[in-house]
Amino acid sequence: MKKKISVIFGTRPEAIKLAPVILAAKANPHFKCKVCVTAQHREMLDQVLKVFKIKPDVDLNLMRPNQTLAGLTARAIRGIDTYLAQEKPDMIIVQGDTTTVFCAALCAFYHKIPIGHVEAGLRTGNKYSPFPEEANRVLATHLSTLHFAPTQKARQNLLQEGIAPERIFVTGNTVIDALFLARDKIKKKPPAIPQLCKSILQSSQQLVLITGHRRENFGKGFQNICKAVKTLAQRFPETQFVYPVHLNPNVRKPVYSLLGNQENIHLIEPLGYLPFVALMNRSTIILTDSGGVQEEAPSLGKPVLVMRDTTERPEAVDMGTVKLVGTNVNAIIDNAAKLLTDKKAYSVMASAVNPYGDGRATERIVTTFLQFTNSLDHKH
Ligand code: UD1
Ligand code: UDP
Repeated sequence: MKKKISVIFGTRPEAIKLAPVILAAKANPHFKCKVCVTAQHREMLDQVLKVFKIKPDVDLNLMRPNQTLAGLTARAIRGIDTYLAQEKPDMIIVQGDTTTVFCAALCAFYHKIPIGHVEAGLRTGNKYSPFPEEANRVLATHLSTLHFAPTQKARQNLLQEGIAPERIFVTGNTVIDALFLARDKIKKKPPAIPQLCKSILQSSQQLVLITGHRRENFGKGFQNICKAVKTLAQRFPETQFVYPVHLNPNVRKPVYSLLGNQENIHLIEPLGYLPFVALMNRSTIILTDSGGVQEEAPSLGKPVLVMRDTTERPEAVDMGTVKLVGTNVNAIIDNAAKLLTDKKAYSVMASAVNPYGDGRATERIVTTFLQFTNSLDHKH
């Protein structure tokens, strides 16, 4: 009999990183793969579902404008609990560390349904950074049955927390699988970016790509990031600064009010995954606090300055393509200015490295699901 797997997710990065897994599980004759989205993100989730042609079987449509963590948690627990009671999957799959992940893991635990956790074992060791993700992923770990660690470091973190070695599988990160799928699609048909005039994309001018959304950067952190970007844009008038602004109002307010009036700063709406990958490829350097971008950019040979005080992704920092600069105005300006002016410093950071995977994480994950779900039969 086919095993019923439910993949549950809610935000843009979860959708990107689970898309290859969903496509592979749906194509595998041993599984009946169902997709349930909380839609913790609405527009940004739908952008990804469209690219990968994934149609959710159930859409809980939970997002509210400027939602609170507790409000979203309450809605997600209620919605996912009802879904699991009706669907009764043999196993659920979650990815990462969002509120959706924690709620899905808790509900599945209450229903005694085994949980496969993709991108398990990332840790900073500081429960307030990133907030609330560090706590979400620790809690998800201790509720999960199978742990798909992207790297050896992540595996070590799990072992240190007492997770049994036979439950941990080092697979690489599925984001690299998604990135390779995106690169293939882009090669076949280069995506348009109507929000940016063609001359910016086609010129040889330097381009700085910026993204940011972390809760611990709300307030002072975002004000500093904006001050730094504005100063850089004034100091480098020939360089284009492109910032696809996250839809969270706590991000949009400071960004639009502080960066709105500078000719070489382009504030645009969040991009679909294909145009965003194309833009990463076109960029000279990337300033970000995003997790996924820290994993993708090293594969593309793009130096990344991470505007956070901690990272749970030390691998690319160790390899020298990612640098943690925090949210101090001068630190952001000095590090970015060096990369934009010092060819030697740039080339040291711009070598393409792939510490997060070889594009075959999905294959390893699906093989493990199969072995695990078969073992469930032998137990009964
Ligand atoms: C969430 C995740 C974070 C992840 C990030 C990826 C939690 C607690 N946070 O943060 O781990 O890194 O997504 O981007 O799970 N909004 C829209 N449309 C959208 C998406 C968001 O309008 O498509 C606005 C809404 O007003 C929403 C707000 O952004 O209430 C915040 O969304 P939420 O998912 O709670 O938090 P993020 O900061 O996006
Ligand atoms: N991304 C995208 N469009 C954008 C900005 C980012 O498709 O305008 C992609 C990016 O390539 C990466 C993911 O979204 O795969 C990262 O999402 P985000 O930064 O929101 O979340 P995080 O990774 O920090 O959890």
